[in-house]
Parts: sequence; structure tokens; C-alpha cells
Amino acid sequence: MTNKLQIKSFEEYKEKYALSIENPEKFWGDVAEEFQWIKKWDKVLEWNFQEPKVEWFKGAKLNITENALDRHLETRGNKLAIIWEPNDPKQRFVRYTYRELYEHVCQFANALKEKGIKKGDRVCIYMPMIPELAVAVLACARIGAIHSVVFAGFSSSALADRINDAEAKAVITSDGLNRGAKQIPVKRVVDEALESCASVETVIVYDCLGWGPNMEEGRDYWWHEVVAGQPKSCAPEPMDAEDVLFILYTSGSTGKPKGVVHTCGGYMVGAAYTFQNVYQCDESDVYWCTADVGWITGHTYIVYGPLISGTTSVMFEGIPTYPDPGRFWQIIDKHSVNQFLTAPTAIRSLMAHGEDHVLSYSLDSLKILGSVGEPINDEAWKWYHLHVGKERCPIVDNWWQTETGAIMISGIGNISPMKPTFAGYPLPGVNPVLLDQEGKEIQEADVEGYLCIKSPWPSMLRTTYGDHERCRVTYFSTYDGYYFTGDGAKRDQNGMYRIIGRVDDVINVSGHRFGTAEIENAINTNDNVVESAVVGFPHPVKGQSIYAFVVCEKAPEDEVHARGEIVESVVAEIGKIAIPEKIQFVSGLPKTRSGKIMRRILRKIAEGEVSNLGDTSTLLDPNVVDELIEGKL
Ligand code: PRX
Repeated sequence: MTNKLQIKSFEEYKEKYALSIENPEKFWGDVAEEFQWIKKWDKVLEWNFQEPKVEWFKGAKLNITENALDRHLETRGNKLAIIWEPNDPKQRFVRYTYRELYEHVCQFANALKEKGIKKGDRVCIYMPMIPELAVAVLACARIGAIHSVVFAGFSSSALADRINDAEAKAVITSDGLNRGAKQIPVKRVVDEALESCASVETVIVYDCLGWGPNMEEGRDYWWHEVVAGQPKSCAPEPMDAEDVLFILYTSGSTGKPKGVVHTCGGYMVGAAYTFQNVYQCDESDVYWCTADVGWITGHTYIVYGPLISGTTSVMFEGIPTYPDPGRFWQIIDKHSVNQFLTAPTAIRSLMAHGEDHVLSYSLDSLKILGSVGEPINDEAWKWYHLHVGKERCPIVDNWWQTETGAIMISGIGNISPMKPTFAGYPLPGVNPVLLDQEGKEIQEADVEGYLCIKSPWPSMLRTTYGDHERCRVTYFSTYDGYYFTGDGAKRDQNGMYRIIGRVDDVINVSGHRFGTAEIENAINTNDNVVESAVVGFPHPVKGQSIYAFVVCEKAPEDEVHARGEIVESVVAEIGKIAIPEKIQFVSGLPKTRSGKIMRRILRKIAEGEVSNLGDTSTLLDPNVVDELIEGKL
């Protein structure tokens, strides 16, 4: 299907965009015609943002894997679907054609069925970046089981929370994983998590490292044993367009991470439409996204988007700096990658190692570069453009969210104009607005406001798992009648958008989202901690980093030791990815008389902008501020 949906000029973009806003049903109905449906829809769209209730392609039946696999067998059966590049460059890479991938998915789908997994059951996938992760995701979709992929860097406690919230019946995992020079015991984390998960009946373990982990009789099975002898075909489960395809947990301003729910029909259409347009892949192109399938970028732009589009997608097990900081560029040359998508944090970390690593590779195959996950600063943009793109490849800056399911605002290949640090124009079918403090739409040019979306798009979240009210309150209640993104943005005279960052209590560290409450809860599990407040502050490589102000019952005698304990709690509750960069012990937090922590002040202190703290007269104890400034790390 590649090319069919691709916009070919900026003029065409403008026409399509206007049509998509004027008549979304016609626009998306036409797009949806390009997919394979078991039964077509009765109605393209029904919606209201009050409940909220959004239904796309109502009455249609499909299976997304028929679109990602079966449909290609006749014309692209021998084309590569996945090129897997291992962590260690000395190890052999693996290639799966569409036919091979189809057969692996069907065999594993049959294995899942044999273990009693059926349509609607939740399956948690906690795996390294190996091809079997993609196979597991697609096998769930094949039989209508709902996958919930959990990034394999989360701790056992975070994993248990996600398994329990979804009441997962099965977990798919591996013995261990490779990450740079380290090897991590994945199955041990699963075993720990399962001590508090009553719903899990089956665990399937892929033998990645030959470690021989603990295997519990009657619960744990080897991947290679359960697939052995399984038929290489498996009838796709007919799914309603609005049946749940997957849950993916993400952090917000309050409480525990929530399970964002995506459905089959709309997600399929949105993932493929945006992929084909933004990356403009030709039939023979090789595309590579460096994300992990544990995050939404990996779901939409490693697995579903590229495969539905019949593209060859590279999947990489390792990290950008192992065995050296030239690893990304070496892989691009090795597999002649044409479209490359990574995160600003990776670019900044490689920049810090100097140009030599990148200059020793030709990178001639590259056509389009992508950036995703966080705002890209001017310096990183220019480095990426000059040293990687050799000033000939456009950079498409993809703004979107776990909740949006697919890219919302972005450049389109080399078709739309680009401007450093600007994500650009909304994709067809996306209707963004900027609102002011009062919730009024700002119409003028060159303005800044709260970024909201005014009407539905096919790949948007439908609910938060098990708690629809939470979905309503989080996204649809701040501004009546709008989906609120949580981001602030600017719009220039030409209508291009620049994303400034989160305006709520969400911190984006190296492109990973954390809620301040989530980290504070982890810190507060420490026996000696009375309370804590966490804010983000600018970091040259990570974008933002975590600064924790901690009040202890007894002032710690050995601060280094006390910090170590706090780090341990965060690692245990969430994982290493959420470790605070700075931990300052304080005797109190700046609170208003009603007991609310004034984070604005804490943010300024963490940023080192202490000369302009604003009004502190409403504080219960204004003296606290002096102590905080004095002790700043
Ligand atoms: O603040 C925005 C930032 O990441 C948030 C979404 O995070 P997550 O759900 O983990 O999805 C990340 C991958 C899409 C957004 O609310 N963000 C994402 N992409 C960009 C961005 N900020 C600026 N520019 C981007 N291109």
C-alpha cells in the first residue's frame, strides 16, 4: 500500500488539510478505503468530548495483522519486514521477510491460544528489543488479546502495578537482556513482580542469553517449546473497529500511571497514514526508528506503522554509545538506512562525544531524519542537520503523545517547509488550537498558549483502562469541549507550531515521561522521609532532569548515605530511569496557608533563577525559601 496515501506536494497538503477539517468523515473514509477490512463501517465517526465518547469506523470489522502481514504476502512475501541489529556488532544480525514474520506470528498466536489466551484477555509483554517482541505484539493482535507492553527498564514494583491494573492473564518475557556492556536479569524482575499479581496464570520466556532462569512448574514455559510444532497459519480474529487493541501505561500529573487505551480500526488508520506521509518511504527503502517498543513511538513507528505500510523496518537491541558513539552511524551505513528517527536526547548525548564518530561514516543512504519525544533545541537541530543529514536531508520533528497514538504536528518528508525547533504544521485530520488562561481560542499569529485539539482523530485514546472518569477529568475537563494535551506551544505568522514543553506536573527526562507525584510517592516510601517535592530542571543532554526537595524526620547525619537510600527507593518503585539528579534535604517545603506546595518557587530554585521568585508573601513560612536557596545543589 506504500505510496497510495502519500501527499506529494505542499499544495496537495494544503488541499487535503482543508478538506480534512471541513469534512473529516469524507477525508478519513477515503483514507480507510486503502485498508483491508473484514466488513466496512456503517458510519465513519460519532463523537462527543463531554463523556467523552469517540467511535471511528463504527460497525467495521478487521484484524490489524491482516493489514500488517497477510496483505503483503502476495506482493511482498520475500521482502524484508524486519532487520534486527543486535546489541553487539560482532553478533550476527537477523532478517525476517514478511512471509517469515507472518509464520512466526501465526505460530506464536497458536501457542497463546493453546495456553488458553483468547480475545479480550490482557497480555503483559516485558521484553528486550528482540524480534520476538514484535512477534509477541502481533500475535496478541492476531487472536484479539490486548497487549500491554511494559518497558523492560521498569522495576518489579512498577511492572506489578501495570499487570494488576490490567489484570493480565499472561506475561511474555525473556531470561535476560543485553544493554551495552551490561546484561540485565529480566525474568528475575518478573518473578518478583508476580509475587503480588494474582491474575497471571502463564509466563512465556524467550531464551535470550541461555541463563537458565528459575522456571515455575505449571506457570512458566519456554517460548521455543510452546511454538514447536505449531501450525504456520492462524485465522485472524475478527475485531470490531472499536475493540481494544492495546493498553500502554503513561505518567500524568497525578496518581499512578494510567493505561491509555487504543482501539483497532482508528489506530490502524492513523498509524499507517501518518507513517506513510511523514516518512515518505519508497518501496525499496529501509527505515529505522531507534525507540523501544516499550514506548508508544515503538508501537506506532517500529511495529504497526511500517509493517502496515509494507516497509522494511530496522529494530535495534542496543544503545547509541556501545561499543562506541559511532554505533548509530555504523548501523545506518551497514543496512543502508534511508529514513532515520531518533530522540533529541540521543543526538545531544552523541554531540557531546564530538563529530569524529559521525564523520567516519558516509551516511549517503539517508533521505529523511526524524526527531521525536521532546523539544529539539537549536544546537542539536543544527548538528543533526549538518553532520548527520549533510544539509541535504529534511528533519521532520514529530510532535505527538501516547494518548494521540500517532503523529499530530510534524513536517512531511521534504514536502512541507521546515524551521529549526518548530514541529511545523498539523497533519491532515488534526485540528489544534491554542487557548489562553480563560480557555478562549487565540486566533492571532505569533502567539503562545495551551495546546488543545478541537475535534477527534482516528488514533486518539478512547479511555484510560478501568477508569473512564479519569480519562474525562485528565484530558477533557480542563477546557470544555477540547482535548487538552498538557503542552504549551507557540504559533508563528505562517501557522507553524513550536512545542515549548509541559505546562503540568509532568517531567520529560530523555524523552521519558514521569509524573512528579509518582516520583514523590517513591521517595516517600523511605522510612525517614516525611514529605518531598519533585520538579524538573533543564539538563544539557536529557532535556530535563529531576530535582527532589526532601524533608526528613531526622536531618540525615550522612547525606551521601541518605541520598543513596532515596535513590534505592526510586529504583525499586519505578526504575533507574527515574533517579533524581539532585536531592536536597530541607527542613520544610514552601507551602501556601492552605497547605499547597508552591512548585513554581521550587522550579525557579532548581533552575537557579533565584533573583526572580515572584510573590512569596502568601507562603505560610516565607523563611523556608532562604534555606532552600542557600542549600541549592
Ligand atoms: O511534551 C510533549 C513531548 O512528549 C510528551 C508526550 O510524551 P509521550 O506520551 O511519552 O510520547 C512521546 C513520543 C511521542 C508531549 O506531551 N513531546 C513529544 N514529542 C515532542 C514533544 N515535545 C516537543 N517536540 C516534540 N516533537
